[in-house]
Amino acid sequence: MNYLQRTVTKPDVGLGLSEDWNEFVTIEGSILTAAKGDEIKTMFITSCNEGDGKSVTTSAMAMALTQGSINRVLLIDGNLARPRLHEMLHLDSTPGLTDLLFGHAKVEDVIKMTAIPNLFCMPAGETDVDPVSFFRSPFFAYMLDKLQKKFDYIIFDGPDYMGRSESPFLATVFDGVILVVSYQDTRWKVAKIVKDRINDVGGRVIGAVLNRRRYIIPESLYGVL
Ligand SMILES: Nc1ncnc2c1ncn2[C@@H]1O[C@H](COP(=O)(O)OP(=O)(O)OP(=O)(O)O)[C@@H](O)[C@H]1O
Ligand SMILES: [Mg+2]
Repeated sequence: MNYLQRTVTKPDVGLGLSEDWNEFVTIEGSILTAAKGDEIKTMFITSCNEGDGKSVTTSAMAMALTQGSINRVLLIDGNLARPRLHEMLHLDSTPGLTDLLFGHAKVEDVIKMTAIPNLFCMPAGETDVDPVSFFRSPFFAYMLDKLQKKFDYIIFDGPDYMGRSESPFLATVFDGVILVVSYQDTRWKVAKIVKDRINDVGGRVIGAVLNRRRYIIPESLYGVL
């Protein structure tokens, strides 16, 4: 697929993206290329530090993935300390992921339709939980397994890697990890350290998204850093 020549309409939702939208369309093709031949259906989006642009990247990437074909995409807000997807997609934050796993809500109540056809979102839900033990619960892996059968892609807007104890475990649960690198804020050396740490725990970095870039760089998603 020659994704660079495809025309994709920018969805009319307020992500605050302007010229960056075209980057995310390119990323959609790059993800499919990176995943080709492999069954990469679930992706954990992380970054070195807070505020690097994971939620913006995750949302735009998921939207781009729904545009190309009939892909059904589920976005999960897995940043329990700083949930944001519900605001971006104009949804209630509860019930959501935590409510589902604690048995306080049913799956049909926590998977919400968005304004974008084929794009669904599971907000974080009630966030007064310990993320480390929450994600290590066997129910989380079980839920992911079940949801994979209903969606073409599951994209998990996760916590940052350096500051959060649950991230190394999360890196091992998903088929692939995508590292958001903020062009203006992340030192390349730090990005390399995080990539190595993810590999060390057995996670698979399938690519890195360079966010907030100011200058022309040939690819926004690098195969491996
Ligand atoms: N490419 C971009 N274009 C415009 N604004 C952006 C872009 N990337 C990030 N931002 C802005 O930067 C801020 C942080 O972005 P975002 O919430 O996506 O980061 P995050 O990594 O998810 O943060 P957290 O660690 O809190 O989860 C937001 O105000 C967002 O709107
Ligand atoms: Mg976020």
